Amino acid sequence: MAPRFLVTERIPAAGLDLLHDAGQVTLLPAVPSAGELRALCASGDYDVLLSRLGDCVDAELLAAARLRGVSNYAVGFNNIDVPAATARGILVGNTPGVLTDATADIAMLLILGTARRVIEADSLVRSGGFTGWTPELMVGADVSGQVLGLAGFGRIARATARRALAFGMGVVFSPRPPAERHVSDAELGEFAGKVRQLPWGDVAARADFLSIHVPLNESTHHLVDAAVLAAMKPTAFLINTARGPVVDEAALVQALRSGVIAGAGLDVYENEPALAPGLAELPNTVLLPHVGSATAPVRNKMAVLAARNAIAMAKGELPPHAVNP
Ligand code: DGY
Repeated sequence: MAPRFLVTERIPAAGLDLLHDAGQVTLLPAVPSAGELRALCASGDYDVLLSRLGDCVDAELLAAARLRGVSNYAVGFNNIDVPAATARGILVGNTPGVLTDATADIAMLLILGTARRVIEADSLVRSGGFTGWTPELMVGADVSGQVLGLAGFGRIARATARRALAFGMGVVFSPRPPAERHVSDAELGEFAGKVRQLPWGDVAARADFLSIHVPLNESTHHLVDAAVLAAMKPTAFLINTARGPVVDEAALVQALRSGVIAGAGLDVYENEPALAPGLAELPNTVLLPHVGSATAPVRNKMAVLAARNAIAMAKGELPPHAVNP
């Protein structure tokens, strides 16, 4: 029988075409509710689910599912209960590598945008408030000579470090906060001698820009809480392109309101797409709608990877990018 794919939301044709060539594709007309998705996965009508990061593939769904695999159209997979999938022999795939530079670009954009008050400045011009150059107009913070603190030192953190070094920043990092782990010079590779490893608390305290690059899991949920925010410099900015729940967003709003830190650049939110009350009203923020990977070439590559993963799973083969092989 030809493989049967359930696709919850349209992905670029580069991926959909591969699926169509390999088997039968059901593209849902609208994003399913949790209950609808559970019922579809339990129906036995599909071999592989091609999921979005908004689809909740939890233990309950997986317990009832009659699937060979779940191919997530994302590098992150916190929407999937991987241990529950593994326990049932269901493979989980993701799309690593192809979105590294695009996401690091957004981290750098948020660093520059918060430092130089780009949203406030743009709004001033659009609202007719720009009446000419003055010495005090939209004065912001420097980036060069400042310290970038990285929470995590994986692919996207390293790509962000590369950009920050090119902008004349110093870089400190903690590889797996809140845990401590030493990264050897051999593991540092091109970064040996250029970046400094510090305990997580010191990274937060030393950073002029603290950028989050850890996966969301039990140990990183609310990694940045009121205590970490209080340990940061009052002139520092928080940057998050990873996952919203890594930051306690209510504590962040409070810290931004009361000057505990200077500002924040966010691409992800704790209860996405909802924002914590008050966040959108704060002038010292740059707020993006989870667009780290949103370039046409990157989304095409993600679609191809997700499709290749799905096709391999449907054939009973190991997918190119399995998170639980
Ligand atoms: C991911 O892939 O995990 C991003 O958050 C969306 O592309």
